[in-house]
Amino acid sequence: LNLAAFDLVAADRGQVADLLRAWTAAASNLAAGRPVASLDDNLLSPPADTGEAIGSGVARLTLTFGFGSGLFSGPEGDRYGLGSSRPSPLVDLPAFPGDQLDPARSGGDLLVQACADDPLVAFHAVHNLARVARGAAVLRWSQVGFGRTSSVSRRDQTPRNLMGFKDGTNNIQTGDDAAMAAHVWVGVEGPTWMRGGTYVVVRRIRMLLEKWDRSSLDEQQRTIGRLKYSGAPIGGQQEHDTVDLGALDASGHPVVPTGAHVREAAPSTNGGERILRRGYSFDDGVDDVGEQDVGLVFVCFQQDPRRQFVPIQRRLAANDGLNEYIRHTGSAVFAVPAGVAPGGWVGQSLFGT
Ligand code: HEM
Repeated sequence: LNLAAFDLVAADRGQVADLLRAWTAAASNLAAGRPVASLDDNLLSPPADTGEAIGSGVARLTLTFGFGSGLFSGPEGDRYGLGSSRPSPLVDLPAFPGDQLDPARSGGDLLVQACADDPLVAFHAVHNLARVARGAAVLRWSQVGFGRTSSVSRRDQTPRNLMGFKDGTNNIQTGDDAAMAAHVWVGVEGPTWMRGGTYVVVRRIRMLLEKWDRSSLDEQQRTIGRLKYSGAPIGGQQEHDTVDLGALDASGHPVVPTGAHVREAAPSTNGGERILRRGYSFDDGVDDVGEQDVGLVFVCFQQDPRRQFVPIQRRLAANDGLNEYIRHTGSAVFAVPAGVAPGGWVGQSLFGT
């Protein structure tokens, strides 16, 4: 994962549209494993492509683009005349108890999410898209991640996060069309320009591993609500056994404890709401007191954050036992328009040209 958020500095709406056209052309080259623009031997100007991924192949690169609230309104008001097109699900997230958000790792007017099997290929994509953006948008923050957590298909073995637990067992499977239509893709509820798109919430969540590593296996398992090695829910045998939130032990206590992460996050605890989680681990080195600055780049896709991420996170912020071991340090939300048809460009339906 190489995820970058940009601030727009474009003078007008036409310049934003030009940037999105240029990004689309560059992205279609990148996604085919080609240089971002044709290379030539002109010795007098900088090379059209920065070159670090030449020969690396496509490495299953995917590029996802998003629009933050700053495209629709800014400190100077509706600078691009798009205010009336702002989709109502694109809310500014409320502050959640316990948040320790760093503004330098939060927000942004535009998002580029590059994912690839080779980190060099993902880096190259963001590097070159930032270059293409020059004069219209500037990098605000970026985050590198590795080892996708959250399986999104039963064909994948569920990966583990840096706390050592399988992550993504109970996730929406991207091949489940009905679940994707019900929870992830924007449908007729619109607005029209967002149809077939989705909303992404990104949270940089630091894991306090020093503390976690000193807690007992029992405490770790009761905090998550699952068994560490098998991934089975407490009270179950196999990873994919149903999590039985109603089960009581011999002394009448819930088998999956109150405050266990899976209990508090479960759809049945949250009015049936689900999100597609697609997180990555991050390792940003060591902080100023010698602790590892590592964790989860939590990335989740949904139809409407007001109905999905916000209430789920509100419950987690209040009740999740995991809070003792994590700290939310970055946050952003973007509207992700539908994929681009041949000849089209990212955001074309919004700009109406
Ligand atoms: C560092 C932070 C987090 C860690 C380490 C973590 C870890 C886990 C683990 C190990 C599971 C159990 C396996 C699975 O079903 O995927 C799980 C489940 C889940 N998590 Fe998290 N998670 C974190 C943050 C979040 C956040 C911020 C949300 C949403 C706001 C969330 C939503 C969920 C949901 C919906 C489930 C599935 C619950 C179920 O239906 O059984 N998680 N998480």
